[in-house]
Amino acid sequence: MKTILCDSYEEMSKAGALIIADQLKAKPDSVLGFATGSTPVGMYTELAKMNKNGEMDFSKVTTFNLDEYYPIDPKNQQSYRYFMNENLFNKINIDISKTFVPEGYSSDSTAACKKYEKMIKDAGGIDLQVLGIGVNGHIGFNEPAKNLKASTHVTDLTESTIEANSRFFASREDVPRQAITMGIGTILKSKKIILLITGENKSKALNDLLGDDIITDNPATFLKVHNDVTLICDKEAYYGRDNTQER
Ligand code: GLP
Repeated sequence: MKTILCDSYEEMSKAGALIIADQLKAKPDSVLGFATGSTPVGMYTELAKMNKNGEMDFSKVTTFNLDEYYPIDPKNQQSYRYFMNENLFNKINIDISKTFVPEGYSSDSTAACKKYEKMIKDAGGIDLQVLGIGVNGHIGFNEPAKNLKASTHVTDLTESTIEANSRFFASREDVPRQAITMGIGTILKSKKIILLITGENKSKALNDLLGDDIITDNPATFLKVHNDVTLICDKEAYYGRDNTQER
């Protein structure tokens, strides 16, 4: 795993955007995997800026998002579809019909999962997947558990994730209890992966990534079996509370 240690969130956001820019230079019709959460927002702002300046072209790009709440209306401001439109898609020259988010509105969630997995395959697979990480090590909505799922599936959110994500909703009760998420296998099939980690509260999850163990209680540790993962993090996440610590 390659690590890019940054001095600030701005530096992290730029580092991530530059990797995506390089990807699009090498392959203008790339299939990109995107993540939600607050961490990638700065990088999306940077991508929009680069697109506006003519440094990046998204016209041939296809995207697949990692996950979506279930059930949720895509028009709901807390849906990940709404988030992506607001934070990125409406600001760049992408063909919106080539941007995909799991169908959190489907009445048949199992069919929606199967369809999503097939769509990714039919698009030729994901060239570059962007990931954030939960405080508990979740990637997408692959929560810590004894058994993890390989493919896109419906999952129950853990109490800690419901609590963490309740900051975006009017109340804790409004947070959907389930989500559709790419599985660990779906993520690991991506050709390249970048994982953005910011803040001291993620340092425990990051620490597990730096060791050798693969732990189902920290799903992100499965990324160790992939041969092209770049970790982009700030010092708070990397060193935790004691930022004098040697690594
Ligand atoms: C959400 C998303 C994840 C994201 C995580 C961290 O639950 N499903 O894809 O990585 O939260 O979010 P944040 O970046 O806001 O800490």
